[in-house]
Amino acid sequence: MKILGIETSCDETAMSVIEISPRQARGEEITVLSNVISSQVKLHAKYGGVVPSLAAREHVKNIKHVFNLALKQAAKNGKWKMENGKLPVDLIAVTRGPGLGPALLVGITFAKTMSWLYKKPLTGVNHLEGHIHSNWLSPVANSKSKTLNPKQIFPALNLIVSGGHTELVLMNSRDQYQIIGETVDDAVGEAFDKVARLLSLGYPGGPAISKTAEKGNPDKYILPRPMSKSKNYDFSYSGLKTAVLYLLRDLYPPAGGRKPDAKIRADIAASFQNAAIDVLVQKTMRAAKEYKVKSILLSGGVSANKLLRKELHKNTAEAGIKYFQPPMEYTTDNAAMIAVAGYFSRSKNKKTDYKSVKMDANLGFRPKR
Ligand code: KG4
Ligand code: ZN
Repeated sequence: MKILGIETSCDETAMSVIEISPRQARGEEITVLSNVISSQVKLHAKYGGVVPSLAAREHVKNIKHVFNLALKQAAKNGKWKMENGKLPVDLIAVTRGPGLGPALLVGITFAKTMSWLYKKPLTGVNHLEGHIHSNWLSPVANSKSKTLNPKQIFPALNLIVSGGHTELVLMNSRDQYQIIGETVDDAVGEAFDKVARLLSLGYPGGPAISKTAEKGNPDKYILPRPMSKSKNYDFSYSGLKTAVLYLLRDLYPPAGGRKPDAKIRADIAASFQNAAIDVLVQKTMRAAKEYKVKSILLSGGVSANKLLRKELHKNTAEAGIKYFQPPMEYTTDNAAMIAVAGYFSRSKNKKTDYKSVKMDANLGFRPKR
């Protein structure tokens, strides 16, 4: 079965075609035939963050081109011929939320049009459910497609860390999600972005902080680890960001008027990264043990962070818990993850026609039923 995924929830216009083999005992075989991502990062960088109306305008400009490219790449990798007037997929999956309303609408409108025009079923996907499923993906056109055996991974604990979310989600089975912890204020990716701005490192902040941190001493400044000792599994990141602000103010009183020099910036970036990742790892491991999960799945944009990947790897190995992390190309927003999530969730949605998909910018996980 071939699925076209469409993702426009933020500042990436993305489309992908994946192929999934029928269900087998050891899990589905998934091959990514194309994964096209048109990023608007440069456009938004001068504003220090994503501007929703500009994002929507760029999606409109790029979407047809991204669509053509995704199909062309898939035809090449799948060794089939494109036929005029035909869309060679069995299902279309589109992100319906959460995300920026104007941006989501572009992808949804395009998906509905394709579904109506080519008479293909359409399913709406939760963006966070998409991130979780980035763990089911292997690199484009990889002949060794990945299989995850449900018997070996569930119950699973998902740590979803992105620019908008920090969530611990327990999955007892394929379609049962239960949020056991989330941020009470800023998301961890947002904290990386804000601290990068304080240090004049540019946007997006996550990659800039981790690169700068490589040259710094992570133990130079002892920064707070908010809520690390609290009994629940919630997170808080605004206090950590404020601690960096105060540290900078102490080091460089406003009257001093100097910008932090490179060495101090590197030490602050490393100390901040250390504190931010430490809380994530501590709480995830504690939850994994309490809920006796078989596996931990990392996902979301911050899953690209090397320190986080390394620490989770080490801690899960010590605890004897299976650990999965997405290949680097699927850490940030992409449409292959939306296509996989669409495949698994389509049976839950009774209707899969173009009329049934509605945008929901504030969509969350449904509580456990
Ligand atoms: O999942 P994503 O692409 O978009 C959202 O759904 O939010 O995540 C983007 C976030 C940004 O906050 C970015 O700074 C962060 O992921 N990020 C990182 C790294 N790469 C991206 N944070 C820390 N370390 C990284 N290497
Ligand atoms: Zn995302």
